[in-house]
Amino acid sequence: MSDLGFDGRVAVVTGAGGGLGREYALLLASRGARVVVNDTGGSTAGEGADEGPADGVAREIRDLGGEATADTHSVATPEGGKAVVRTALDAYGTVDIVVNNAGILRDAPFHEMTADLLDPVLDVHLKGAFYVTTPAWNVMREQGYGRVINTISAAGVLGTANKSNYGSAKTGLIGLTRVLAAEGAAHGIKTNAVAPIALTRMLTQSLTRTGVQGKVPEPEPDRAEQAMTVERMRSFVDRLDPALVAPVVAYLAHEDCPVSGEMYTVGAGHVARFFVGRTDGYFNPALSMEDVRDHFDEIRDETGYTVPKDPGEETGRLFRTVQG
Ligand code: NAI
Repeated sequence: MSDLGFDGRVAVVTGAGGGLGREYALLLASRGARVVVNDTGGSTAGEGADEGPADGVAREIRDLGGEATADTHSVATPEGGKAVVRTALDAYGTVDIVVNNAGILRDAPFHEMTADLLDPVLDVHLKGAFYVTTPAWNVMREQGYGRVINTISAAGVLGTANKSNYGSAKTGLIGLTRVLAAEGAAHGIKTNAVAPIALTRMLTQSLTRTGVQGKVPEPEPDRAEQAMTVERMRSFVDRLDPALVAPVVAYLAHEDCPVSGEMYTVGAGHVARFFVGRTDGYFNPALSMEDVRDHFDEIRDETGYTVPKDPGEETGRLFRTVQG
């Protein structure tokens, strides 16, 4: 089997001035894609701006013999999104690949989740994916080809404390991924999502809070068990090289990508699929509240679960159950 290349393809990678996005941009460029390296260069909370990160990665790619253009527009507004895609069109004439990767964190427990913590997170992750993908979508539809990769997170898919804003934005992107897969099918456009696990400044910030990274209190000497757990956790975290997520994103961005509307969880060189399953369930045409209570184990039983590919299949299943 030959190596996979991107000759002639144009990719926009948002938030590519560091962390995961930088690795995506480097890999795509090393395989021949012309890349727009977008990044506002702000803090993890999305404050401030700096041209340095986007410029630096674009220069790094060019120094390695690739083609790249830096872009520092924010994905968080419709104008910003249009401007990012405009950079690709002006520099390279088209856009074939969009990797929606830009992201920020503003964690707080739900009872302290104010609008200034919620809105910017929704704007960058969820609306940002709309704002960048929409102008690219029109180009992709016209050319009958495109690949979109959205960035989701286990923090949303599975849920974690203090991230109601982030988790909601990330799971909103699952819906966007599924709907774009449905709408893009007739136009040669495939959309998938990746939930990365990688040691970047973002993960470092989350881990510092949980005591795995950074200035954590050293375990007391007599608590050997705790010391081992922290030590093992640290060595695990050290293996979470963001470069090991990039091959999955690049494959999903490639024309050989065989799937659309799917989600992959990726970290440290491991790749697996997340999916929405449906239990076989319980049916009673005269369903009462007590029936629900009495059959709750059966309703939840994962034996024989299925993975409906679309709402039509789900409704079809219900139709067959109800009709007998
Ligand atoms: P990072 O903080 O290194 O990268 C995010 C980049 O997005 C930054 O360079 C930042 O400047 C840029 N950015 C922020 N707001 C922007 C805006 N409005 N417009 C353009 N660029 C903007 O963190 P990391 O980990 O590389 O994050 C990449 C993506 O992966 C994010 O969407 C994050 O939520 C997601 N993710 C990361 C995980 C991890 O383990 N590192 C886990 C799950 C999801």
